[in-house]
Amino acid sequence: MISEKEYSTKLAEVLSYLEERIKVVPEFGVILGSGLGAFADLVKEKVVIPYKDIPHFPISTVEGHAGQLVFGKVEGRSVVVMQGRFHYYEGYTMQEVTFPIRVMQVLGVNGLIVTNAAGGINSAICSGDLILIKDHLNLMGDNPLRGANLSDLGPRFPDMSEGYNLEWRQKALVIAKEMGINPQEGVYVAVSGPSYETPAEIRYMRTIGADMVGMSTVPEVIVANHGGMRVLGISCVTNMAAGIMGQKLSHVEVMKTAERVEKQFVQFVKELVGVL
Ligand code: HPA
Repeated sequence: MISEKEYSTKLAEVLSYLEERIKVVPEFGVILGSGLGAFADLVKEKVVIPYKDIPHFPISTVEGHAGQLVFGKVEGRSVVVMQGRFHYYEGYTMQEVTFPIRVMQVLGVNGLIVTNAAGGINSAICSGDLILIKDHLNLMGDNPLRGANLSDLGPRFPDMSEGYNLEWRQKALVIAKEMGINPQEGVYVAVSGPSYETPAEIRYMRTIGADMVGMSTVPEVIVANHGGMRVLGISCVTNMAAGIMGQKLSHVEVMKTAERVEKQFVQFVKELVGVL
């Protein structure tokens, strides 16, 4: 675990590296989940910076993730898009996983749309559905804020009672309806992965109130809340969770479903960036 001072020094170095390269300072952040990267194609006046070129950035290893920051404009707003994220299961620490959120924070981003691919637990959900995250359960067994508090960046004990902004969720439900997307909200449970859940684990997660399950998002959302950002979360249900339909799970299926709904998903996020 790195010290507060070390972390601040790293952040300052990234900030000066990025500020030399970008044309407009972003006000809005978007994180694109597995197979949902096409949103980055919409960005105008683009400046693309691969993670591997950014000092102190971890490198994305998972299939289906491009691994770059895309700066520019969407619907007239200045955005920074993470095309590909860092997962805890890749072996990164929680601080590494959430480092880009801190970078966004120090750049001045105050609103974040987080997206992911998830397994459906609630049987009212179908594969291919887009679901707004209304709350989460952290079963990752770790927290990105553990250790010395970065007091310049947020409080020691941040409130999480509205981790996913209510007003934004309400707006997003209206937009979903207008776009012909079934307006749904659910509770997302995060696990560390990388093995998919067992059917018994899924029964447990359903019992404790989860509607969908995935291996990301929660660390980023905790850090974004700590940093005072408003957050909207969207899950793309790429498969029904283990034991629900009796089928086996595969990353191929996850990517295939994500690809199938990508167009609708991209439109939805674009509309949201315009109104949130
Ligand atoms: N479980 C965990 N993570 C996932 C799943 C799943 O079923 N589908 C997509 N990401």
